[in-house]
Amino acid sequence: MNVEAFMADRRVGIWLVGALGGVGSTVALGLAALREQCTSPRGMMTALPLFDGVDLDSPDQFVLGGHDIRRGDLLSSVSDLARDASIFDPTVIRAVQSHLSEWSKNIRPGTVLNSGDAIAALADRPDLPSTRSPREAIASMRADISDFRDRHKLDQVVVVNVASTEPPFSLTADHGSIGQLNERLDDPAFLPVSSLYAYAAIDSGWPYVNFTPSTGASVPGLVDLAIQRGSPIAGQDGKTGETLLKSVLAPMFAARNLRILSWVGHNILGNRDGQVLHDPRNKAGKMLAKDRIVSEILDYSPQTHTSIEYIESLNDWKTAWDHVHFEGFLGVKMTLQFTWQGCDSALAAPLVIDLARLALLAGRRKESGILTHLACFFKSPMGVTEHDFSRQMTMLAEYVRTLQTR
Ligand SMILES: NC(=O)c1ccc[n+]([C@@H]2O[C@H](COP(=O)([O-])OP(=O)(O)OC[C@H]3O[C@@H](n4cnc5c(N)ncnc54)[C@H](O)[C@@H]3O)[C@@H](O)[C@H]2O)c1
Repeated sequence: MNVEAFMADRRVGIWLVGALGGVGSTVALGLAALREQCTSPRGMMTALPLFDGVDLDSPDQFVLGGHDIRRGDLLSSVSDLARDASIFDPTVIRAVQSHLSEWSKNIRPGTVLNSGDAIAALADRPDLPSTRSPREAIASMRADISDFRDRHKLDQVVVVNVASTEPPFSLTADHGSIGQLNERLDDPAFLPVSSLYAYAAIDSGWPYVNFTPSTGASVPGLVDLAIQRGSPIAGQDGKTGETLLKSVLAPMFAARNLRILSWVGHNILGNRDGQVLHDPRNKAGKMLAKDRIVSEILDYSPQTHTSIEYIESLNDWKTAWDHVHFEGFLGVKMTLQFTWQGCDSALAAPLVIDLARLALLAGRRKESGILTHLACFFKSPMGVTEHDFSRQMTMLAEYVRTLQTR
């Protein structure tokens, strides 16, 4: 079989943890719409000429499945978003509803073991497994993903976490190696739920991407496991809005030798993500990354303040208002203000598809451990201290060039 025929035959799975959420269901709608050619890949970085000639999976090669803890299906999730947030063309939803119905059959009950109260309160699926230990939960997740692979005869599966943000989790010395982790897998509080899903994916040898601020694979023992199992991993917390702008604008002030005196960012959003982030414990995880990025880019720490408030009526529309106070020549103080009004799911979903395609490619290339070239996608990129967006893009472009020169 020649290479082109093999590419066309390849079937891959995208397994979404949190499949029925705003981001998860928009990924499903987007993949199906791309497959039926009733939308363009606008918003997807992997559709840029930079990636011409790179062996990425096309939308028609994907089958979608996942875990969720709520009742429902993909069609009702996207229809709710379309109605409540006034997004998506109804003709597109109609054109792809058979794919959404088929893929909904691949959604399995997840677990809320050690997920925190705000997430546990969302769980209304009557068939959630009553797993009592991380070991049991991981085994059940692995079985679900293997079954998905077997039923659809998939060559590869990528697992992407797009579930609700859990409260921050403190790691201890006992999380330092896979040997230590394995000894504690009967202790229900030893790992947060996002890390159980990460463990299941990595232990199966599949690529794993954490699009959320939750801990996921950011545990030294799981990074060990990824290297052992040959599993590529990337995360964490997709950089889609206000933080993306911070990572573009802060380097500009530095390059012009303008001193930032303070950076205040107020964020308001109204979807289920916002509802979960309304709990101060869950909000803490998100705030940390959003607030510290400016100081991480500069070689000094200006006063910063970030807030996130849940305003129900906004639904999937997020507004950020930022006020940047800075000093120029002769000590003259000036201000930049911007407002960013973005649709959360439409900003995130194309990046999830990009990440899935790039992580699957890395899996085929036998790259294991942290994919540092994907830093530009994340607020807290694993294994990378570089937060300047243009430098992160250079890292990605250099990686792509190595693929094209082979
Ligand atoms: N939209 C963006 O621009 C953006 C950017 C960066 C990060 N994120 C992150 O992506 C995640 C998803 O955002 P969203 O707007 O789709 O939220 P959402 O609340 O609409 O969806 C989350 C889904 O996860 C499910 N879920 C929660 N806990 C689970 C568990 N333990 N197992 C399986 N499923 C579980 C929920 O039932 C829900 O369907 C959030 O963590 C958010 O912070 C989003």
